[in-house]
Amino acid sequence: MSDPTNFHPTNRSTASNGVDIASILKEATLHLESAEDISTAQLAEILNTHSFAIIKGIIKPEDVKQAKQKIKSLYSQDNDNPATGESPEDIMGNYQKLSIGGAEHSGVYRPRCMRTIYNPLWAEDKYGMHKIFRAAAQTRNAIYGWDLDYCIDEVNDGFWTAARIHHYPAGGGFLVSHVDDVVPVVQKAEGISRYFQPVVVMSKKGTADDCDFETGGGFFDIQGERYYYEADAELGDIVIYSGATVHGVADIDLHKTFDPRNCQGRLAAFVTVYRKFERKGQLQDYVSTEKSVY
Ligand SMILES: [Fe+2]
Repeated sequence: MSDPTNFHPTNRSTASNGVDIASILKEATLHLESAEDISTAQLAEILNTHSFAIIKGIIKPEDVKQAKQKIKSLYSQDNDNPATGESPEDIMGNYQKLSIGGAEHSGVYRPRCMRTIYNPLWAEDKYGMHKIFRAAAQTRNAIYGWDLDYCIDEVNDGFWTAARIHHYPAGGGFLVSHVDDVVPVVQKAEGISRYFQPVVVMSKKGTADDCDFETGGGFFDIQGERYYYEADAELGDIVIYSGATVHGVADIDLHKTFDPRNCQGRLAAFVTVYRKFERKGQLQDYVSTEKSVY
C-alpha cells in the first residue's frame, strides 16, 4: 500500500512508474442500466483486481442535478449541529452536523472540514435523494451478494443504511487521505468481513459552467498515483473503493473565502451499512483499541 501522506501528481494517463492509468480505469468501469443488472461475480473480479470500480448509468445525472438544487435551496447554517454528541436516533433521522478538526473521538486522528447531512430512507425525502440512495444501496448490496433491498427501508439484523450527503465547503473543505478503518472494524465485529464503500458523485470539478468547484476534490490512489475522479466522472457515477484503497478529499477551492452561509463546494452521497447503536458513544466499544497515527 502506498503512503497515504505522500502527494502525487494528478490524473495522468500514465503513472511515473509506467503503469497505464487510463487502461486500468477503462477495465474498472461498468456501464449498466440498473442495480439489477450488476453481476456480483464480475464486479468482485474488478474489485479484487483493481481494488476499485466505477459504475455508470444506474443513477441519472438529471436526478442528481435536481437533488443538488434542492439541497442548496433548503440549506441553512442554522441547522448545523456539533461534530460530536449526537444520539443514535438523531442520525437515524434528518440531521445536519458540521465537523472541523481531528475527529479523534472516532478512534482515529483524521483531520477534516466537512458537513454531513443524514437523510435515511425512512425520513422525509426533502431533497429528492431517496431514489439516488436506493440505487446506490442496491449496488452496495449487489457487491456483498445480499438481497437487493437488504437494510434499505428498515433495520435488518441490526444494520441500517446511513444514507447521507457529505458537503465539503468551498474555501478549504477537506478530508485527509486515509484508508477506512473504523466502519470495517465495526462491520467485521458484526460478521461482515469484506469492506467496500460506494460513493455517488454529485459534483463536477473544472472551470466549465456546470462545474461545482475548480481545485481539490475526491481522490483515490491507483498504483501510487493520485486520481481525482470528479475531473472525469459524470454526475451519478458510483465510485467504489475497498478498505485497502487510500482516499480522501483535497482542499476545495482555496482561492475562495470560506462562507458557512452558503452551500458552495463539493457534495457526495454515501450509503454505508451502520450497526444500529443503542446508546451514545457505543462506537468507542469497537474502535478504542484501533487508534492509528499516520
Ligand atoms: Fe474513508
